[in-house]
Amino acid sequence: MKHIVYVSQAEHPFSAWELANLLETSRARNVSDGISGLLIYRLNPEYNRGNFVQAIEGPEAEIDSLWSRITRDNRHHTIVVVQEGSIEARMFDGWSMGFKNADAEDLAGFAGFSDLGSDTFWSDISPASAAGALELLRNFYDGA
Ligand SMILES: Cc1cc2nc3c(=O)[nH]c(=O)nc-3n(C[C@H](O)[C@H](O)[C@H](O)COP(=O)(O)O)c2cc1C
Repeated sequence: MKHIVYVSQAEHPFSAWELANLLETSRARNVSDGISGLLIYRLNPEYNRGNFVQAIEGPEAEIDSLWSRITRDNRHHTIVVVQEGSIEARMFDGWSMGFKNADAEDLAGFAGFSDLGSDTFWSDISPASAAGALELLRNFYDGA
């Protein structure tokens, strides 16, 4: 199995309807592809910028195919992979695509992610942020 963890910028701030639509398609498709994961959306109001943090995990061929669709999707851009590689066990087992529409309070205290979506966040993001990204994602999984 393989996983990819990345961050990206929404093409525009997403409405609740757009988020629901994205999740509905993703969950249906992920169930049939054996993919699990978690998607965090954060509107940073100071910058009027929507931001995604997502982990996807599953069989390598399905992840590669999903990744080529995700990277071609014009609903987001500035895609930065913070971690990818093979995994022994799923981190988000049972979640066809968990979702959290996060606000400032939800992100407070997460190193490197408390200002998710600010200019500083986007200039500092790198694979060195992987541990912070996984901690954030796992926190929503464990807390659910
Ligand atoms: C931030 C973001 C996350 C996405 N996550 C998934 C996902 O987990 N699974 C999925 O099938 N599609 C996901 N998509 C949608 C795909 O890019 C694509 O639109 C969808 O899989 C349908 O592809 P198709 O029209 O080529 O069949 C995501 C798109 C965005 C913008």
